[in-house]
Amino acid sequence: MRLLVTGGCGFIGSAFVRMALARGHEVTNLDKLTYAGNPANVAEVADHAGYRFVHADIADADDVAGALKGVDVVVNMAAESHVDRSILDPAAFPMTDVVGTAVILDQARRAGVARFVQVSTDEVYGSIAEGRFRETDPVEPSSPYSASKAGGDLQALAWHRTYGMDVVVTRGSNTYGPRQYPEKLIPLFVTNVLDGEGLPVYGDGQQIRDWIHVDDHCAGIFAALERGRAGEVYNVGGGNERTNLEVTERILEYTGASRDLIRYVADRPGHDRRYALAAEKLHGLGWEPAVNFGDGLAATVAWYQDHRSWWEPIKSGEYRAYYEAQYGDRGAADR
Ligand code: NAD
Ligand code: DAU
Repeated sequence: MRLLVTGGCGFIGSAFVRMALARGHEVTNLDKLTYAGNPANVAEVADHAGYRFVHADIADADDVAGALKGVDVVVNMAAESHVDRSILDPAAFPMTDVVGTAVILDQARRAGVARFVQVSTDEVYGSIAEGRFRETDPVEPSSPYSASKAGGDLQALAWHRTYGMDVVVTRGSNTYGPRQYPEKLIPLFVTNVLDGEGLPVYGDGQQIRDWIHVDDHCAGIFAALERGRAGEVYNVGGGNERTNLEVTERILEYTGASRDLIRYVADRPGHDRRYALAAEKLHGLGWEPAVNFGDGLAATVAWYQDHRSWWEPIKSGEYRAYYEAQYGDRGAADR
């Protein structure tokens, strides 16, 4: 297949691009190269005969129309993706995650692509105290990020209902692995430990996330792309619930660092307490997560230990300004 992957210079997108090429597909990677987009993430495939890069914004209809020529399937991963940034300054989130999604959906419809995969998130469901979210549950997003992502999902499903366009939506759980920008919990804590810096645990650290390795997430997107039914949503859940404190303790264990690095800081506003996904629908398409959490996290820690040249340049400039705004005068947790 000839795939147009958006956001392919980001964390999950770059893993997906590598997997797609390894499976014999042709890939056009359309990426705006925001702070989170890193050409180094796809450097090893840059000269692959089946790979092409287009530097563009998914909200630019002309650029998108040009990139869509000859494409069979669109996989839309481009997004502003970080909850804390959406709380500090939400402006960019609807521009990409809502408006950009509408633009690329409509250009894909006009181009007559065979399928459009909208890559979304379990955060659109909001928080769940007990049980697990199913695809039929309503969306109740808590943050500006998840509200924008929910807007993207709803548009994708509306394009199916209104125009009969072949659309599938995937909703993935918290993803970890190599090349994740060090603003998210796991890469932030691993790189802070390696720098001897504190680990800012929000609130009591008892919030629960359902972790999935990036390769399992990408394989789940492929299952929905290849075998999903048009107009359907598929949860891509790891079935691997952990409290944030447990994840933090594992990172300390794998790096041999002290618990003294833990700092309990003021909680995230509107913080969802627990995410948990029922992924049986995707299991029915023959997909199961394969990476054991302990093994995957240990390998991820080792990757950051071995790739300082990847993350040290990131942790300067714009990142330092973000870090200061996010954590600088944050008070202690009210526990
Ligand atoms: P990321 O922040 O690492 O990468 C996002 C990529 O999108 C970057 O390369 C960036 O340059 C690009 N981009 C941003 N705005 C763009 C625009 N307007 N036009 C073109 N490119 C643009 O994100 P990620 O963590 O890899 O997430 C990828 C997708 O998966 C997102 O849609 C996100 O909502 C979803 N998702 C992420 C997770 C997770 O835990 N990381 C879990 C579930 C779903
Ligand atoms: O659930 C899927 C979502 O997972 C994706 O849609 C998002 O793109 C991705 O960023 C992620 O969102 P979270 O908000 O769950 O991820 P984050 O890594 O920011 O935080 C994970 C948990 O760790 C959350 O409960 C907040 C907490 N946390 C995070 C940071 C950055 C801390 O306690 N301290 C921190 O410094």
